[in-house]
Amino acid sequence: MKNSENITTIMVKASSKYPIKIGSGLIENAGSYIKQKISAQKIVIITDDIVDKIYSRKVEQSLSSNGFEVLKYVFENGEERKNLTTYGQMLKFLAKNQVTRTDGIVALGGGVVGDMAGFVASTFLRGIKYVQIPTTLLSQIDSSVGGKTAIDLKEGKNLVGAFYQPSLVLCDTDVLSTLPKSVFDDGMGEAVKYALLSKKVFKLFESEKLELGKLVTLCIDYKRQVVEADEFEKNKRKLLNLGHTPAHAIEKLSKYTISHGKAVRMGIDIILKNSATLNLIKKEEYVRIKEILDGKLRAEENPFTMEQIVKACAQDKKRSANKISLLMVHGVGNVKEHKIDISNLKGYLR
Ligand code: GLY
Repeated sequence: MKNSENITTIMVKASSKYPIKIGSGLIENAGSYIKQKISAQKIVIITDDIVDKIYSRKVEQSLSSNGFEVLKYVFENGEERKNLTTYGQMLKFLAKNQVTRTDGIVALGGGVVGDMAGFVASTFLRGIKYVQIPTTLLSQIDSSVGGKTAIDLKEGKNLVGAFYQPSLVLCDTDVLSTLPKSVFDDGMGEAVKYALLSKKVFKLFESEKLELGKLVTLCIDYKRQVVEADEFEKNKRKLLNLGHTPAHAIEKLSKYTISHGKAVRMGIDIILKNSATLNLIKKEEYVRIKEILDGKLRAEENPFTMEQIVKACAQDKKRSANKISLLMVHGVGNVKEHKIDISNLKGYLR
């Protein structure tokens, strides 16, 4: 990790090597950072209609003044748009505008934009370069890092995708202070996950005031280590799914009216409580951890019964044959995978 002029740089050494820059003022200067990484003629900004109104002009100006020809594709905000139709329209836009293999894409927005733009980049002309400029807490600490790209099918979320690393990630921490509360809390749901996975993040949670730049840096640095060790999610990367099995069940049961981060926060509460019930962590430790996590973000009330959740979990895409993999908490920084028989799931999720 390197610090200069208040910008922290974290290098990710996965199948390709790329920097993640974290700090203030990165959006205004995006063009000059991108120029150092991509020698493209055209850059296509992919963004949604909400982010477009707030940040596109700054990015466009910075790209133009650094000599890029700038094109822009804007789609309607929301997970419902992360589908085959939007994906097809994006590909056609690139083809019509004669984007070539040496041109590049900038994903400007939250998780939906990053996932879609990354997937387009991974498949258009068999792969062109892309840069992530995440504009939410959730996308800065989680989805923009590590190269998971995807679109949804009616049958389920993220069913089509690729592991495809960006050339650069710019996390401008200025954007965090203006996020609507519900969008901020969504990101905090994932931050709570990192607090259980990483002792350093948990320690930050113990401090009275959560310093956001530090939170983003610590979560990204934790994820960097995981991605470097297991880019294609064969083993260690599965840890990043902590709380996600019940969370995906809750999202699905709510017909996606409960957002991902909020469902993750609920899922973590379920896993933590059951880790204590199964004596994987001591009762006092459970109480202490819960108090610290709740102090930063309490889970909203989960409207479903455990019976409904268990049934929905049994259909999880991470299931194989009659086994399901569940991550349980044995302590802070000590999360372990349990491979459970589907028939035993009820005992783990009470
Ligand atoms: N969001 C989990 C991962 O990137 O693996």
